[in-house]
Amino acid sequence: MTFFSNLSKFFNKDEAVALGIDIGSSAIKIVQLKKKNGQAVLETYGELALGPYAGLGIGQAVALAPDKIAQALVDLMKEKEVNITTKKCGISIPFASSLMSVIEMPDVSPKQLAVMVPLEARKYIPVPISEVVLDWSVIPKSEVRTEDFSEYTLVEERSTTDKGTNAPAPLVKIDVLIVAIHNETIARYQDIVTKGGLEAGFFEIEIFSTMRAVLDETLRPVMIMDMGAASTKLYVVERGVIHSSHTINRGSQDITLTMSKSLGLSPERAEVMKRQVGATGEDKNLTDIIMLTLDYIFAEVNNALLSFEKKYNKTISKVVLVGGGSALKGLAELTKNNFKTDVVIADPFSKVSAPAFLENILKETGPEFAVAIGLALRKLSEEE
Ligand SMILES: Nc1ncnc2c1ncn2[C@@H]1O[C@H](COP(=O)(O)OP(=O)(O)OP(=O)(O)O)[C@@H](O)[C@H]1O
Ligand SMILES: [Mg+2]
Repeated sequence: MTFFSNLSKFFNKDEAVALGIDIGSSAIKIVQLKKKNGQAVLETYGELALGPYAGLGIGQAVALAPDKIAQALVDLMKEKEVNITTKKCGISIPFASSLMSVIEMPDVSPKQLAVMVPLEARKYIPVPISEVVLDWSVIPKSEVRTEDFSEYTLVEERSTTDKGTNAPAPLVKIDVLIVAIHNETIARYQDIVTKGGLEAGFFEIEIFSTMRAVLDETLRPVMIMDMGAASTKLYVVERGVIHSSHTINRGSQDITLTMSKSLGLSPERAEVMKRQVGATGEDKNLTDIIMLTLDYIFAEVNNALLSFEKKYNKTISKVVLVGGGSALKGLAELTKNNFKTDVVIADPFSKVSAPAFLENILKETGPEFAVAIGLALRKLSEEE
């Protein structure tokens, strides 16, 4: 036994294997990748709805205790078709469990910045800094807007540089993205991982996983729209850096619930109908009902687009759709007609190699798996 496993270890030396696990509010998504000849190869993927673990239907968002989530995770990994063969994983942390802000700092050395950022961050983080894990990164200079430096830093600049001259002080400021996660959140996910019998290499806020899975090299600002069950998350990203984020309190489960009420269907039947028929216009009445939710979301997206463009004086080149809600039939057309910019549906499985016969199904389910793929890609690169 050991002889064989040693042998296979020898032969598979560069065949690292990694899991990405996205614990969403309505479903767990899992992706296993393998490194082969320097390429990320899709080994398996699967998903499990969490609604039934709280007596609710598929597609509904639920808040479960860590024990139940771990149970669901174990159930998913046990499924024969999924056939997970490693414990090494990366796990996502919901965007809502993080605090993210862009703060302005003077352009000082990285060493000084390392001291100053945590002090400045206190103003933006509503809990003691000792209770969070804080991370930050400088937003590349060329992108810093010049029109709205804060008064307070302006005054400071003047007091040090204006001595004896009337020359205006140089306005050298940088934007820094700060990200904080509460220790309790990390402990909660660690608990799930341990109970699920897994080994987590890292916890990553879902937005970063999504960016890795769906963005290409484009230099112009892009908006990612993640339509989940209970909410729709918007992030504006430029050259790999997040500039702004926004959460809309409507998601795909609102469509199901409105359908259920308007058509007198059980939520379960409404969910099936939503997925099968969608908003293609074929069933005009159904499309109208779906639009009640979508109109609200579209208006919020357009507001966010406009407010970014106004603030930064830049245009957003496209909106990239991810999340299970993006799989709604007819959504691509509707967004194209309603957004003041180009729209593409994300195809994150295109970042990994997979058998050709899966091409269509992977295109269809891809948006839902964006976070899990991004996590698996990072974990795989860290396994080398
Ligand atoms: N083919 C489909 N057509 C329409 N809606 C769909 C389809 N597939 C899934 N959905 C909907 O997508 C939603 C789930 O999306 P997703 O898995 O991205 O959410 P989540 O990750 O659990 O939520 P969140 O990210 O908000 O925590 C459900 O409400 C589900 O009904
Ligand atoms: Mg999600």
